[in-house]
Amino acid sequence: MDISDGFYVRSGSRPSFTSVNSFARHRSAMRTLGRIVRNQAVMQRSLKSELLDGDGIPEAQIARAYRQLTRIHRLLGDTRAIIAAVREDPLPVGCVLDIGCGRGGVLKEVQRRLGVQAIGVDLKPPPAADGPQIIAANGISDRLPAADVAFCMYLGHHLCEGDLRQLIRNVGRSCRRFLLLDLVRHPLPLTMFKMFMAPLVCNLVATDGQLSIRRSYTPVELLRIAREALAGTRAHIRHSTSPLYIRQILDITYRP
Ligand SMILES: C[S@@+](CC[C@H](N)C(=O)[O-])C[C@H]1O[C@@H](n2cnc3c(N)ncnc32)[C@H](O)[C@@H]1O
Repeated sequence: MDISDGFYVRSGSRPSFTSVNSFARHRSAMRTLGRIVRNQAVMQRSLKSELLDGDGIPEAQIARAYRQLTRIHRLLGDTRAIIAAVREDPLPVGCVLDIGCGRGGVLKEVQRRLGVQAIGVDLKPPPAADGPQIIAANGISDRLPAADVAFCMYLGHHLCEGDLRQLIRNVGRSCRRFLLLDLVRHPLPLTMFKMFMAPLVCNLVATDGQLSIRRSYTPVELLRIAREALAGTRAHIRHSTSPLYIRQILDITYRP
């Protein structure tokens, strides 16, 4: 045996360019495949609970985490994306509803920028809110306040597929349009979050942020879930993914 170009060839036979090239191509393809498989394995959807979903965290820490979350939405352009989508609505918008609004930071900004009535809904409303009204309700099962456009941010990944389908159907009972903005389960936003965002935020947001990306749906999954939820209806679904997989938006128009 001798060694040529990093792999064994039989003694006496000379490696041809064709076999060297085809081996190199094969090896590179296998490496690419390995990377994809590894990424898929790393990015299996996590089912772990986030810290903010649990009990026992002091109110001051919760309030700080939500304030940082509102700033992250501003920095990433999420708030702008929702405002732009509402502005482009072909019909007049007098009232917007934020489902899973947390402390209502984004809702307050949307209300101020659009000059519309704004209502928030959350499973755990804040002890006291100084902005728009926030109602205690479950977005999946409770009758929601009537509004022209509903939106939600970073709520989708908290729900299993069945609950997400129910949320999508439930919103259609009270609103004519639903903008669902969420993270994308992909190694790129996860790496960027770890490198650029996690060092700047509190431990709660740094930990939950990474887990949120791992809990999120891929664009293919999210679109499939929306189609399943609305099968047999006349609803119109649009889906977009932003560059670098920073966010994805499902834009649903319900039709009676
Ligand atoms: C990650 S926080 C996002 C808060 C806010 N939308 C934001 O992006 O800053 C998710 C919020 O959804 C709420 N939530 C979770 N499941 C819900 C449900 N079924 N109905 C209403 N709110 C829900 C939680 O209480 C929490 O406040």
